[in-house]
Amino acid sequence: MRFGDYQNEIYLSGLGGVLPALPMAYAELAARAESALPPAIWSYVAGGAGDEATQRANEAAFQRWGLYPRMLVGASERDLSVDLFGQRLASPLFLAPVGVIGLCAQDGHGDLATARAAARTGVPMVASTLSVDPLERVADEFGETPGFFQLYTPTDRELAASLVHRAEAAGFKGIVVTLDTWITGWRPRDLATGNFPQLRGHCLANYFSDPVFRARLKQTPEENPGAAVLEWVGLFGNPLTWSDLPWLRSLTRLPLILKGLCHPEDVRRARDAGVDGVYCSNHGGRQANGGLPALDALPGVVEAAEGLPVLFDSGVRSGADAVKALALGATAVGVGRPYAYGLALGGADGIVHVLRSLLAEADLIMAVDGYPSLADLTPDALVRL
Ligand SMILES: Cc1cc2nc3c(=O)[nH]c(=O)nc-3n(C[C@H](O)[C@H](O)[C@H](O)COP(=O)(O)O)c2cc1C
Repeated sequence: MRFGDYQNEIYLSGLGGVLPALPMAYAELAARAESALPPAIWSYVAGGAGDEATQRANEAAFQRWGLYPRMLVGASERDLSVDLFGQRLASPLFLAPVGVIGLCAQDGHGDLATARAAARTGVPMVASTLSVDPLERVADEFGETPGFFQLYTPTDRELAASLVHRAEAAGFKGIVVTLDTWITGWRPRDLATGNFPQLRGHCLANYFSDPVFRARLKQTPEENPGAAVLEWVGLFGNPLTWSDLPWLRSLTRLPLILKGLCHPEDVRRARDAGVDGVYCSNHGGRQANGGLPALDALPGVVEAAEGLPVLFDSGVRSGADAVKALALGATAVGVGRPYAYGLALGGADGIVHVLRSLLAEADLIMAVDGYPSLADLTPDALVRL
C-alpha cells in the first residue's frame, strides 16, 4: 500500500479549491476536539493521572530520539506490512483500546465507528471491555480486518470466561488483558468534576448483555439500572497476581497478550508463563503519575521479550513517533487519544483521516530517510539527542 499517496489526494483536491475538512496537525486536532466534545468527555479523554507529568513525558520522550537520514537508497517502494499473531497486516498501526470511545462519537456509537474505520483502513481495533455497544456488534463491523478484544478481568472468574468465550465466538483474533487498571488511578480532572462515566451506567454493554452477569442480578439491568451498575462496581477490578496467569492462559487458545508491561523482569515472567505477546504501555499516563515514559521502557521490553511480538502505545502523535517506536523494536504501534479526537470531529471518516495521515507521514519519512521496509528500521537508525 502506498500510504504516502494520501498527500497527492489532498494536494490534488487543493488544486480544485477543496481544502481538508479535518485538521492536518495534531495540536489543531486536539483543540478542535475540545470544542466538539462535551466538557466532561473531553476532560475524561484528554486528562491523566496527577499533574499529568507522565502523560507529557510520554510525548516528550519521542523528541529525544532523532532519525538518521540515509541517502542514495532509492526507497521508491516502501513495505510497512507486518505479521501479527498469524495475521498479515498492511501496516504496523493498531487502534489502542479506549473505553468510552463510544461516547466520543456524535451519535454515541463510537465503538461501531471505530470498527468501521478499522474495516476501511486494515488497521486493527483492540476493542475495550468498556463499550456502548456489545462486542458482538462491534465485531460485526470489522469487515476483513482482524480485531482484538481487550479484557478488564472481573473478579468473577465465570464472568471473565464468558467474556473471553463471547469474544472467541464473535471472531476476535486475540485477547489483550490489561493489567494496570484493576483500580482507577488518581485523576484530578475527573475528580474535580465528579465524573466517572461508568458509574453513570455508560459503556457497560458487555456486562449488561452477558448471561453470567445477568444471572447475578435480582432484576435485569433494564428494570433496575442502578442495581446493575452497583453490581458492576463490585466486579470490575481484579488485582491479578502471577498465580492467576495459568488460569487466564487456560481460558483461550487465541493469542494472549498482556498490556501494561514495562519492566523487563515482568516481561520475562510473562514469557515463561506462555503468553503470545507483550504490550508495553503506561496507559497514556492515565493510571500512575510519576512514571517513566513508555518509550523509555520499550528497549528493555523488546530485549526481554526475546522475539515475542511487542505491541507499544503511549504518546504516539505522528508518523515520526510511530517510526521511532518501530526502530526501537516495537512490532506494532498503538494509536490512542488521536483517534478519539478524529472520531469526535468526523465519525469513522475522522478516524480514517487520522490513521491515513499517520501512515502517510510514516511512509514518507521512510522514503525520504531511506528505510524502505520495517526490517530496515533498527536502533541503528536512531541517535539519542
Ligand atoms: C479515554 C481513554 C480510555 C481508555 N480506556 C482503556 C481501556 O478501556 N482499556 C485499556 O486497556 N486501555 C485504555 N486506555 C489506554 C489506551 O489503550 C492507551 O494505552 C493510551 O491511550 C495510550 O496513550 P495516548 O493516548 O496518550 O497515546 C484508554 C485511554 C484513554 C485516553
